[in-house]
Amino acid sequence: MNLLFYSAGESGAAWLEAFARELPEARINTWQRGPISQIDYAILWKPPGELLEALGQARAVFNLGAGVDGIKNLAALRSAVPLIRLEDAGMTEQMIEYACHAVLRRYREFDGYAEQQHAGEWRPRRRIGKRAFGIGILGLGVLGSAVATALSRFGFRVYGWSRSPKAIAGIETFAGAGQLDSVLTQARVLICLLPSTAETRELLDRQRLSRLPRGAYVVNLARGELLVDQDLLALIDEGHLAGAMLDVFRDEPLPGAHVFWHHPKVTVTPHVSAATLIDESVAQIAAKIRRLEAGLPVTGVVERERGY
Ligand SMILES: NC(=O)c1ccc[n+]([C@@H]2O[C@H](COP(=O)([O-])OP(=O)(O)OC[C@H]3O[C@@H](n4cnc5c(N)ncnc54)[C@H](OP(=O)(O)O)[C@@H]3O)[C@@H](O)[C@H]2O)c1
Repeated sequence: MNLLFYSAGESGAAWLEAFARELPEARINTWQRGPISQIDYAILWKPPGELLEALGQARAVFNLGAGVDGIKNLAALRSAVPLIRLEDAGMTEQMIEYACHAVLRRYREFDGYAEQQHAGEWRPRRRIGKRAFGIGILGLGVLGSAVATALSRFGFRVYGWSRSPKAIAGIETFAGAGQLDSVLTQARVLICLLPSTAETRELLDRQRLSRLPRGAYVVNLARGELLVDQDLLALIDEGHLAGAMLDVFRDEPLPGAHVFWHHPKVTVTPHVSAATLIDESVAQIAAKIRRLEAGLPVTGVVERERGY
């Protein structure tokens, strides 16, 4: 079996080692430029179109991430070749940690207490009940549904939104563009876990963010393009929104001159909410290759027209 590994901007030594361990029967190739020999399975991160074009005979292509928006020229890959994304692979637990931190930080007003400490002010703040503190989750896929369930266990009221209707115990679910408002208007914290697609890009603009209740807090863990930065900043500066915790940005690394870096109400983290873990990802891909080799179906196949 011939495998090809390509990850833009890295040699991938640790990945190659892990694949050699998990799939000892495979021959593992790398790619610099130029023609390639017959490849059965390709494992890619941000591949150039030239490489995708050369993989027209591959049995499957694996994307080294949950979101496939990093593949800018997907049309270059023959449509008969299945594109398979990572599902969970150790990311769910990390997302839950980050999202719970963000919600509890806001709910328990830790930023407010930090300001009070600097001012030497001893003053317990009034706390509202968790059932009155709504959390909105945009995206109820592998990551969003797990985050929603984890937050509901704290006792928060959780409102979730997806494209198709969902039933998740303890979560009030809504689907489709027509029901987005029902989530936004209830969300004191809004967590974004949508894929970046033609439909979701710039979804969080001034009009939609204005539907959040006064004092709401925005947490973007998905992709920077889903949010209109200037609209978020304007609503924070006008006092409608309390602030934001952002892990993803349109341009990464976040440019040094961007207002987010030094805004007192914005917390920036460098795309670390859920790292791609090598061992877990390689084990998942290897298991899927074994299923495909046995003629069995696999999950995580991207629907190209939907974009995720
Ligand atoms: N920051 C990080 O480190 C990091 C790490 C991993 C992933 N991510 C991001 O997180 C995203 C989600 O990952 P996942 O594994 O949970 O993806 P997933 O399982 O494909 O779930 C996507 C969810 O979004 C919903 N959705 C898609 N388009 C929609 C639309 N137009 N309107 C309403 N809902 C829509 C889907 O609805 P249906 O259920 O109806 O299909 C689904 O519930 C990834 O695409 C990636 O961008 C970020």
